Formats: sequence, C-alpha cells, structure tokens
Amino acid sequence: MKITVIGTGYVGLVTGACFSEFGFDITCVDTDPRKIEALQAGRIPIFEPGLEALVQRSALEGRLRFTTEAGPAIENSDVIFITVGTPSRRGDGHADVSFVVAAAETIADHLNGYKIVVTKSTVPVGTTRRIAEVIRKRRPDAQFDVASNPEFLREGSAVEDFMRPDRVIVGVESERAREVLRQLYRPLHLIETPILFADLETAEVIKYTSNAFLAMKITFINQVADLCEKVGADVHNVAKGIGLDRRIGPKFLHPGPGYGGSCFPKDTLALVQTARDHDAPIEIIETVVRLNDQRKIAMVDRIAAALDGNVQGKRIAVLGLTFKPNTDDMRESPSLVILPRLQEMGAKLRCFDPVGMTEARDLMPDLTYSSDPYEAMQDADAVVFLTEWNSFRALDLERMKQILRRPVVVDLRNIYRPADMRERGFAYHSIGRK
Ligand code: UDX
Repeated sequence: MKITVIGTGYVGLVTGACFSEFGFDITCVDTDPRKIEALQAGRIPIFEPGLEALVQRSALEGRLRFTTEAGPAIENSDVIFITVGTPSRRGDGHADVSFVVAAAETIADHLNGYKIVVTKSTVPVGTTRRIAEVIRKRRPDAQFDVASNPEFLREGSAVEDFMRPDRVIVGVESERAREVLRQLYRPLHLIETPILFADLETAEVIKYTSNAFLAMKITFINQVADLCEKVGADVHNVAKGIGLDRRIGPKFLHPGPGYGGSCFPKDTLALVQTARDHDAPIEIIETVVRLNDQRKIAMVDRIAAALDGNVQGKRIAVLGLTFKPNTDDMRESPSLVILPRLQEMGAKLRCFDPVGMTEARDLMPDLTYSSDPYEAMQDADAVVFLTEWNSFRALDLERMKQILRRPVVVDLRNIYRPADMRERGFAYHSIGRK
C-alpha cells in the first residue's frame, strides 16, 4: 500500500515514520523546501525521542521519502493523509482549516483513480465532509472516499503512542474505505488494539472531546490542589485515592501550573466555539478554559508570596520553560505567561531549559538565559521549577543550597518531596501539599 502524508509537522512526521515502520511505502510532502531538504538529509526539525532514528532507518531502507512535489506523490498513492496545521483563528478561537482545504484542493487536482483521503489533523466537526465536497466540486468525476482518523499522540512520547495506542478511531462512510483503513492498522491487531469505526462526525467529536475531557481532569486536580493546601491534605494521595476507582482512573491527575501545548488550549477553545455555533454550549469546558488561563497568572502570585510578597529587584532562577518535558515545544507554555509578568514586576530572571532555549529565546528575547542550571541558580533569591524534566530530579541539592543566595524553592511541578527539602533546609513551596 502506498501512502502520502501531506504536512510534515508533528503529526505528519510521526505518522509517516511509524507507518513506514509498519512496512508501508510512504511519501511525506511539505511546501517548505528547507524543511524537506533537512528531512532528506536525515535531520528532523523537532525534538522527539526516537523519531530521528526511525526516520533515518526507514529512509535508508527506502520506505520513506520526502518531497515538495505533492502532485506525483498523490498520483502514486492509495491513501492520502492530511496532517497540516489547524491553528486557532485570531479573534474567535475557531480552528483555522484553510491549510486543510488547500491540501484537499491539491489532492483533487491530482486524483487519478480511487483513493482515500484521510484527515488526521484535528479538524472541527464537519470538516472531513467538507473536504469531500471541495474535492467533488473540483472533480465531479473523481473516485474517492474520505475518512477521519484522529491522532492522539503526545509530544515527548509520540512514537510510542503511535505504535501502542489505547485505541484507533476511524470515521468512514464506505465499506471499501473501512477495509483499507483496517489493513493499515493491521500491525496493531497483534497487540490487540481496539479499532472503533464510526461515522465521520462521531470520529471528529471523539477527538475534541477526548482532549477536552483530559484538560478538564487537569483543571479539576489543580483546583483540588488549592483546596488541599488550605485544609492540609496531600493532593497526590487524593489523586491516588480517587484514581483507584476505575471509573475515574489514575492518569492526568498531576497538578501543576496549568496545561499548555499545541493541542489542549487550541482544541478546548475550538470545541467551545463549535458547541456555541450549534447552540449546544459545553459550559463546563468554557469554565475549564477560563480557569486554566487564570491558573497561569495565579502562579505569579505564588512565586511572589514565596519571596515575601515582592519580586522587585529579586533574582529568580527559572528551570524548565517548555510546556512539558521531552519536547522543545514552547507553544502555550505557562512560562510564556508567568515569566513576562514576573519581569514586569521587576524580577531579574535567569532561565534554563535542557532543550527548549532556542525556541524560548525567539519568543522571549528579553530574558537572560543560562547554559546550565547551576549557573542560573548562582546567587539567586529563589529557584522556580516550571517543567518536570527528569534531569532536574538529579540536581545536586547540597550544591544548589550553597549557590542560592536564599534557599527558596518554588516547585510548580512537585518534583521533590517536601520532607526531604525541609530536612535539607530549603524554604520549599509546592502544589497541593502541606
Ligand atoms: C495532548 C494529548 O495528551 C494527546 O492525546 C493529543 O493528541 C495532543 O494533546 P500533549 O499536548 O503532547 O498531548 O501533552 P500532554 O502530555 O497531554 O500534556 C498537555 C499539558 O497538560 C502539559 O502542559 C502538561 O504539563 C499538562 N498536564 C498533563 C498536567 O498539568 N497534568 C497532568 O496530569 C497531565
């Protein structure tokens, strides 16, 4: 089976590399020649554990190639995945599907026999059907089916998530498309991955509501953490206690400075808009969006409180800038809200992130960056942990205490244990714990 993947962003690249690992013949297309040149040379533009090795091996073995020429790639394929971006539209929060529609038009122009056009980008309900209309209008004679196959991979564990998903969701309208998609995911039958077939709209709703539900779970535990602090309870034990109920489940109950990333903020907003448009507002998610925005700002007060209520003139080391560990992605990272505010309030920030500093420098050029965590902490009045990189767990706490001017630690990801930190003489502030 020959597959073309249009758009070599996060989802496209992982989809292409993983399907080629399943043994299919893959061509990845992108309009950006520099990106394609880099990929042809075996360099991937994002930091994602395991992906570069996979891309290099598949390319070497001839199952994966990269091109800017969409036409021949489409003509030469049985299945075409659309994995272009659907960013938030300025102003109204709707997902902007213009790149998806443009891809559909290109596909229409090169249809030469039956093909299946699959949306893997996260698209608002109705988009896959709209794509069918776009193609049909341009090529009334063409033979094709559309399908919706949303992707649930997480950054930082994208390859593993693609290869071992909890489930695969496929929205289809014809038996023929259903069979082809089933064949594509055959390697996952071996590990007994459930494949749920649905109609197009249902598949699209599943994607948005999955992300919204997870965002809601995080927001819930963040609010519970605030309560725990007030009443002297421990949020991690609360999470464990409620998570043991299988109806609730233990995951996505880790409190922090609010969710960020390329999906949750964008997808919750888009769901809110879609629901309002259809006069079926999902008010619970509207509240989640508002609370998560507020939470990021509330973290600034928390940091100030740890420094006697005033950050003016204080030197603060900031460790971790990306929206989560194992990625260089800064999109919607809480750091983008918290750090400029602290700076406006007169704090002198020195920041470090294991891989996100190039991105961070572009977005926050006025901040000072350090090449290692100890340099950032030297003579600081406090250190703030914003992302739970594993390397931070292995920091030399004795050295840390010696180089800090004041041993104040604000741990917004609960990397350390309060008892250990207090025993070592730190003034330790974390989330949802005594
Ligand atoms: C998410 C979904 O998990 C994935 O299924 C979807 O395809 C894309 O969006 P991703 O954005 O890569 O993936 O990261 P994820 O690990 O889900 O974390 C999202 C945000 O929530 C991060 O800012 C993270 O720090 C935060 N988070 C997550 C918490 O604060 N607490 C948790 O318990 C889990």
